[in-house]
Amino acid sequence: MQSVDKSMQSVDESVKKLLSGEGKNIPLFKVFIPESVMEPLRKVLLSGYIGEGPRVEEFERQLAPWFDTDNVLALNNGTAALQLALRLANVGYGDEVISTAMTCSATNEPILAMGAKIVWADIDPWTGNIDYKDAAEKITPKTKAIMCVHWGGYPCDLDELNAIAAEHGIKLIEDACHAFSSTYHGKPIGSHSDFACFSFQAIKEMTTVDGGALVCKSRADRERGRLLRWYGIDRKSKRKDLRCEADIVEYGYKFHMNDVTAVIGLEQLKYVGKTIEKYRANAARYNEAFKNLKAVRPLRYKDDRTSVYWLYTIRVKNRQKFMEHMEKAGVTVSQVHARNDTHTMFKDFRTDLPGVDEFTSEQVSIPVGWWLTDKDLTHIINAAVEYDRRCRPRVQEIRKRSGKYEKTPAPPANL
Ligand SMILES: Cc1ncc(COP(=O)(O)O)c(C=O)c1O
Repeated sequence: MQSVDKSMQSVDESVKKLLSGEGKNIPLFKVFIPESVMEPLRKVLLSGYIGEGPRVEEFERQLAPWFDTDNVLALNNGTAALQLALRLANVGYGDEVISTAMTCSATNEPILAMGAKIVWADIDPWTGNIDYKDAAEKITPKTKAIMCVHWGGYPCDLDELNAIAAEHGIKLIEDACHAFSSTYHGKPIGSHSDFACFSFQAIKEMTTVDGGALVCKSRADRERGRLLRWYGIDRKSKRKDLRCEADIVEYGYKFHMNDVTAVIGLEQLKYVGKTIEKYRANAARYNEAFKNLKAVRPLRYKDDRTSVYWLYTIRVKNRQKFMEHMEKAGVTVSQVHARNDTHTMFKDFRTDLPGVDEFTSEQVSIPVGWWLTDKDLTHIINAAVEYDRRCRPRVQEIRKRSGKYEKTPAPPANL
C-alpha cells in the first residue's frame, strides 16, 4: 500500500512540474485554475444538488454575452457539442459531411458516430483553415453539412462558408473548440452560423476541467438540443412522478453539464478576459519579432478577424531540426494535432489534399499562453531568431542559385 502511495506521489510531483513549468521546459499548455474556485466548489459539493441544475442555467446566462446570443447549451465536453450539432443538422446514415483533416480527431469522429461519410476539403496552407472554394466544389446532393475548424483560434472565412451553406440548403457547423472569444467582422465566434461548438477541456483558455457548449442560431434548435442533451427528456415539463412520467419523443444522449462543472465555469469567467488578453499580447510580440524571418514564418492572418491564439502556430523550414533546437533551449513545442485523413478509421475517405500536405510538413506551435513571463518570451524569441540566423547562409546560397526561396530544402544537418 505504501509503495502505491509513493508512486502516486511521484506522479503528482512530475505532473505539477510539467504544468507549472518549474521543470526544465517552458510548457506549451498550462491549466488555469484560480484558488477562488475552492469556496463555491465546496458549497456546491455539499449542497445536496450536483447534477444539472441552477448553476448550469446561470453559467449559460453568463456565457450568452460571450457569444452574443442566449441560444447556449452547456454540455459535458466539446465532442458532445459536435455530435449534438450534427444531430440537430439532421445528419444521418449515408449522408455526407464536408470537413477538414487538419484538426483534433474529435472533430471528425462524431461524423462517423452519426453513420455519415466524410468528404475532405483542402485547407489554406497559410492559416490551417478549410478552403471554402474546395468545400463548395465538393458538395453533392448527399451533403448535409460543412464542418469548419478555426485552427488555433483564427476564424475561418465565415461569410463565404455561410453563403455556400445557404445556397445549398445545408448547415454550417463551426468547431470553435480553439476559438472561445475570437471575433469575425467585429462579432464573437458563436454568433455567425447555424452551430458553433466550444470545448472547456483542461488546457483550453476557458476550462471547466471538462466541459463544452453548443451555440445555436435558432431558438428551435436550442430547444430540441436541450431535450437531446438529457436522453430526450423534457426536464422542465410538469411531471406527476419525478422521473418516469413524460413521454420521450426522440432518443437523446447524456451530454449535459452538471452544477459542479458549471461552478468552476462561473468562477473562470471572472478571469478569462484577462487570461486571453495575455495570449493576444504575447502573440503580438511574436508577430513583430518574426515578421522578417525566412526560416521561421508566422501564419498569414487577415485583419477583419481576431484570433484568441489558443495556439501560436508557425511554419518552419526543417521542422524536426527546429523542434530539436527549441527542446535544447528548454522550450516545449508541438504539432498539437496530426492530419486526420491518414488514420485507419478514416481510410475510406482518402483524397489528394495538397494544402494539408504543405501545412503539415512545416507547422508547429510554440508556447503563447498567460504563464509566459517577459523573460520567457524573450528567450523563446531569441531561440527562434537564432534558428533562423543559422539557416540563413544556406537559404541565401540556394536563393542565389534558384532565384526563389520557396524551393529551399532543409537547413544544414549539423544545425
Ligand atoms: C478542434 C477540437 N475539436 C474538438 C475537441 C474536443 O473537445 P473536448 O475535449 O472538450 O471533447 C477538441 C479538444 O481539444 C479540439 O481541439
